[in-house]
Amino acid sequence: MNYSFSERVSKLQPSAIREILKVTQDPTVISFAAGNPAPEAFPVDMVREITSDIFRDEPITALQYSITEGYTPLRKTIVELMGRRYGVNCVMDEVIITSGGQQTSELACKALVNEHDTVICEAPSFIGVINAFKSYNVNLVGVELEDDGMNIEELEKAITTNKNVKLIYVIPNFQNPKGICTSIEKRKAIYELAKKYGVMILEDNPYGDLRFDGENIPSIKSMDTEGLVIYAGSFSKILAPGIRVGFTVAPTPVISKMTVCKQVSDVHTTILSQMICNEFMKRVDFDAHLDKLAEIYRHKCGLMLSEMDKKVNPKIKYTRPQGGLFIWATLPEGVDMMDFCRKCAAEKVAVVPGSAFTVSDDVKTSSFRLNFSTPTDEQIIKGIDILGKISYTI
Ligand SMILES: Cc1ncc(COP(=O)(O)O)c(C=O)c1O
Repeated sequence: MNYSFSERVSKLQPSAIREILKVTQDPTVISFAAGNPAPEAFPVDMVREITSDIFRDEPITALQYSITEGYTPLRKTIVELMGRRYGVNCVMDEVIITSGGQQTSELACKALVNEHDTVICEAPSFIGVINAFKSYNVNLVGVELEDDGMNIEELEKAITTNKNVKLIYVIPNFQNPKGICTSIEKRKAIYELAKKYGVMILEDNPYGDLRFDGENIPSIKSMDTEGLVIYAGSFSKILAPGIRVGFTVAPTPVISKMTVCKQVSDVHTTILSQMICNEFMKRVDFDAHLDKLAEIYRHKCGLMLSEMDKKVNPKIKYTRPQGGLFIWATLPEGVDMMDFCRKCAAEKVAVVPGSAFTVSDDVKTSSFRLNFSTPTDEQIIKGIDILGKISYTI
């Protein structure tokens, strides 16, 4: 059979980086290529207890169909959380529970963006959401991500020179892949531009609670007096990605439309998972839980950075994140990044080539992403030792 795929997805090709990531299947490979929370960060005992209590007390609720907007007690919990932690005053009608944070981006695109309309994103940006946008055949425009957020002049130019700009997609905290935060000044500037040109912002914040250094920066959503911001939250990095629970906070008309879109996609997010999340938020001392996560990631990131400082060729520059899961390293000009990543893979260390995060294949990059949350301390030390030796052959 000669399969004829839709135009929307025909551009989504498995790329050259797969060949490098394939090596992570080999258990002897040290992988700095994942984006997974640390195994020791999962509150396994509490989830076991909660699940057992749910099946004892409310088995049918957990197993029955439910409403698309999400489990009402969890939506109430989100309203409370948004007010307390993020300075966002919202009501339940402005909240929908999603199947992971990823679904917010997909639904926002489905609800608001026509084919060939423009979506602006940071360059580089998260591959999962880039591909969600591409699957809707949008005109995706990347704006350079500097060390403190998007280049604001370039952003304004992108808004004014492209047709039908519908969304500005930003990951303001511990960005994937660069690990940096957008400064308060730039958050305000992005919001002001969105207001000036009547464009919506999609604020994706799966890593905001994983700060282990420095001060929290107010969310763009907390500045949203005009109803311009769609905020995406997730339980993936603070509880467990496998339970697939995220949430959207957005103006009620946008939530209503996204709800219809979600109904078409998956009817509702797994109700058992939503109940687990809600019970978890009720039982856990959330601040203490986040302190524990911060301790784990501060240690792992610190270890990786100190090993890199000792062993990696100083010609390679890298970010020093204050949270999240990633370090972004950049090779000197003229060094073939793919070749470097291939050499690492051949020596059984996997990193993600920066080309995985570019808006199009034409964009050249000499960077690669390292994850510090998944490997053990021993793997970090051994893996950076290997990478360090390769770094002196460039
Ligand atoms: C920036 C960003 N957004 C969204 C997601 C999706 O997360 P999830 O759907 O598990 O909440 C990820 C996952 O790594 C991410 O890095």
